[in-house]
Amino acid sequence: MHEIYLNGAFVAPQQAMISVMDRGFLFGDGVYEVIPAYAGRPLRAAEHLQRLENSLRGIGLQAPLSLPEWSEIFGRLLAAEPDRDQALYLQVTRGSAAHRDHRFPARPTPTVMAMAKLMPARDPAVAERGVAVVTREDIRWLRCDIKTTSLLAAVLLRQSAQEAGAEEAILVRDGLALEGSTSNLFLVQDGQLITPPKGPLLLAGITRDLVLELAGQAKIPIQERDIAVAELQGADEVWISSSTREVMPVTRLDDRPLGTGCPGPLWRRVDALYQTFKAELRRSAA
Ligand code: PDD
Repeated sequence: MHEIYLNGAFVAPQQAMISVMDRGFLFGDGVYEVIPAYAGRPLRAAEHLQRLENSLRGIGLQAPLSLPEWSEIFGRLLAAEPDRDQALYLQVTRGSAAHRDHRFPARPTPTVMAMAKLMPARDPAVAERGVAVVTREDIRWLRCDIKTTSLLAAVLLRQSAQEAGAEEAILVRDGLALEGSTSNLFLVQDGQLITPPKGPLLLAGITRDLVLELAGQAKIPIQERDIAVAELQGADEVWISSSTREVMPVTRLDDRPLGTGCPGPLWRRVDALYQTFKAELRRSAA
């Protein structure tokens, strides 16, 4: 694996070490981002860094680095595999203190880490057959808009989907399907593209926003409104989206076929727009 950025230095992975007193380790007291990059070009880096700032504000931490400082770090991490598609991962925790104490240290020194990993090419089976999802009760907290490293509920939910043979768990609170454990949710009904509105109960996905933007440009009608879980089974199409998955068509829900049981026509259209957007980003690197 290539070098990792840690607190101002680029070091080999085996040298990238933090204290056991780090609050990220003790409390999950930190925030993170995952940014896809195509041929060295991060996708929507400014939007990801804006969301990082929102997350930092949400947990009462100052931004440790400026946008140009992050860009420089990303440039160096991506340069190790300049032609490949990679995912940047960055994390900021509230650092460590002498004693374990839930209360914040008076003057925290954040731990700042960033690394890149290769993103595998999409499995062609996804476009051919789509993916399966299961519905699960949303057992997370009430600030899902903060992209926090406190991910135990998401970890258990995703694992439960995995054990049910599904790609993702769609999370349901008070009868509403909000998002996946690691993705946003879209539904197509009568030609309308529907996704739940942003708010504290879901993460404002950067891919979600890009999908809405591309669909809007293509004059596809969009509705940002609540989705009742009961609507999913009768939907024409269901999709999930995330930085590493892009837009995936869902063809099975709780072990039953969804829609026609095949990836739908609107998904094909929007996926083509997304692939074109990526290709242009890649070309802009040349
Ligand atoms: N997860 N909702 C949740 C709960 C997520 O964890 C993610 C992303 C998304 C999609 O956001 P974006 O389009 O900005 O990636 C929605 C990342 C990829 C992760 O945790 O690895």
